[in-house]
Amino acid sequence: MAKIDRAGFGTKIGAVLAAAGSAVGLGNIWRFPFETGNHGGAAFILIYLGCVLFMGIPIMIAEFVIGSRSRANAARSYRVLAPGTQWHWVGRMGILAGFLILSYYSVVAGWTLEFIFEAVTNSFAGKSPADFIASFNGFVGDPWRPAICLLLFMLATHFVIVRGVEKGIEKSSNILMPVLFVLLLLLAVCSVSLPGAMNGLKFLLEPDFSKVDGNVLLGAMGQAFFSLSLGLGCLGTYASYFRSDTNLPKTAFNVAWIDTGVAVLAGFIIFPAAFSVGIQPDAGPSLIFITLPNVFQQAFGNLTWLAILLSVMFYVLLALAALTSTISQHEMVTAYLHEEFNMTRKKAAWLVTGGSFVLGLFCSLSLGVGKDYTIFGLTLFDLFDFVTAKIMLPAGGLCISIFVGWYLDKKIVWEAISNNGTFRLYKVVIFILKFFAPIAIAFIFINELGLIR
Ligand code: TRP
Repeated sequence: MAKIDRAGFGTKIGAVLAAAGSAVGLGNIWRFPFETGNHGGAAFILIYLGCVLFMGIPIMIAEFVIGSRSRANAARSYRVLAPGTQWHWVGRMGILAGFLILSYYSVVAGWTLEFIFEAVTNSFAGKSPADFIASFNGFVGDPWRPAICLLLFMLATHFVIVRGVEKGIEKSSNILMPVLFVLLLLLAVCSVSLPGAMNGLKFLLEPDFSKVDGNVLLGAMGQAFFSLSLGLGCLGTYASYFRSDTNLPKTAFNVAWIDTGVAVLAGFIIFPAAFSVGIQPDAGPSLIFITLPNVFQQAFGNLTWLAILLSVMFYVLLALAALTSTISQHEMVTAYLHEEFNMTRKKAAWLVTGGSFVLGLFCSLSLGVGKDYTIFGLTLFDLFDFVTAKIMLPAGGLCISIFVGWYLDKKIVWEAISNNGTFRLYKVVIFILKFFAPIAIAFIFINELGLIR
């Protein structure tokens, strides 16, 4: 296969697992619960599921088509498929978004390292819910500790990117992802059985559509793109490593179900527990970090060894899930710099690592000492999250659906999306790419901009 010196995936199943590894991460376990909490619960979840089904999956298929038929990085793929046009700017915007996401995502990924440390040293023991909030705020407000965690996490990502993905991550995600899933199930059962968990279940299951506004729609759409790793060519880059007989629609469905399953499960862990211990569901990015330790402590408090074992396992798996996602973000920027600017892969990787560390540092400080410096009323961290997830990713998705729906050669599109005539929902996917997705995304954008004014 061409371009083996990119992080290559050895086998077909490996490439598919890597795509799932990219999708499943902090977006599911950290971002989904706090966005759900910010946007009122069940109604948000239903709209989110609609976005996954009617936008996410078709756009993921489209991104796979672009990557697998061009066999190139996100920017070059447009030059291969649409030479002499301006479409490559879509790829470039995606690469910029990937770089920005890598920067602030790694900050949160770094927090998981702190929590591994706390779990190993049994520091959750004997703390009240208020103590957990205080100690989290103390940690995030500290200029040094989060920065060191960020550095360690960036170096871990860098190390894998430079060493090659195939040997380590690809094989281990085979085992680790199912283990994470089982652990999440177990935690969900524990959380649901805490006293007072019913209110959390109600929050998750009883939709109140009266609170749905443009902001909720934008949030749900952004979360769908973020969680599925869509809109910036990240999955396209991975699809360029797929074997040519890979069934693209089937792969997209599998990735989407796994990803959505993990997110919903995370919701069933967080909200019953949050309501049980009296943590506000709209606590924002701190939500899982102040809620989960309570679950470990309340459910297993008198079995210290079990609480330690399960909490260490959980945070290690969370860190690894985050790592497979940061790798995918890093890889797409590295592949781009390496291939487009004629630099060695190693140099490209260092540039990405160094650049995103510096930006990440500012994001991290913006939650503590830099809290008062805001832009449009948002801290730098929140601004990065807003601009990428709620603007750049859906805008990328809009362009991708138009590109595949209207511009790309019909024969290529038919072969790839219908999987040579075997995938019967071909026409539905095409209809969504041509009409539904672009119109829906544009509508949500316009609606929300109208509200802001
Ligand atoms: N989807 C990942 C998560 O849920 C994050 C992620 C990885 C991502 N690659 C991406 C988000 C590309 C947007 C675009 O944690």
